[in-house]
Amino acid sequence: MSELNLVLLGPPGSGKGTQGERLQEDLRLPYYATGDILRAAVREETAIGLSAKEYMDRGDLVPDDVIVGVIAERIDSTEALDGFILDGFPRTTPQAEALDAKLAELGRAVNAVLLIDVGDEELVRRLGGRRTCAENGHVFHVDFNPPERDGVCDLDGSELIVRDDDKPEVIRKRLETYHEKTEPLVDYYDQRSVLRRIVGEAPPDEVGEEIRRTLATMRLEQDEAV
Ligand code: AP5
Repeated sequence: MSELNLVLLGPPGSGKGTQGERLQEDLRLPYYATGDILRAAVREETAIGLSAKEYMDRGDLVPDDVIVGVIAERIDSTEALDGFILDGFPRTTPQAEALDAKLAELGRAVNAVLLIDVGDEELVRRLGGRRTCAENGHVFHVDFNPPERDGVCDLDGSELIVRDDDKPEVIRKRLETYHEKTEPLVDYYDQRSVLRRIVGEAPPDEVGEEIRRTLATMRLEQDEAV
């Protein structure tokens, strides 16, 4: 397989960001996490950030047309010629169709989708205890992956914060939004034979290992099929 056009799919808190950060190092591919991109836009008060904030704060998705352009520009860049890792995009069927159309224009296609599967009860525990570095976005968990010093990022000493959308009522809304709008993408990619399921309830290192094994097998199968 000459390029890897990878989508990380999964509910909020399933570990897409945790695993995406590792994969980016392993695979040396550009990593585009739409949540991080949107939060940066909110901080910088850009036009996109100003329109996205109200949706994000209440646990809704931002409108498709806002986010599709942001990603289309990135996957059409020279840094993404050998592939990319998408985290948090696509999140609706129209977004998946827009991604397919953009890639088809470039003579490419999504060739791996990993669904990180975690039940709702565990997701609520994870999101409720998540602490995020205010500067670099690295995530910790008060119980499962605590920082060395309370409230301080191990990587650069910045403050750890609770994301606005990690409040209990917003967490519930984000889960509802996922089941209603994003879960249909499981079938969408299953029908295209590019979806693999990862058991996301194992500890992070085990999840990472399963992801590595799965991607290696997929690459082998796809190389053999060429
Ligand atoms: P986004 O930032 O993408 O949020 P999300 O999908 O809800 O995902 P999270 O970042 O909450 O979770 P994650 O799966 O990355 O888990 P993590 O690794 O942090 O999006 C935010 C908002 O932006 C959306 O609600 C929407 O409004 C908007 N948006 C973004 N993309 C959009 C799009 N395409 N269209 C429209 N709107 C869009 O892990 C969670 C916690 O669990 C951490 O504390 C971590 O330490 C811990 N943990 C991780 N793995 C494990 C493990 N294996 N065992 C135990 N603990 C673990």
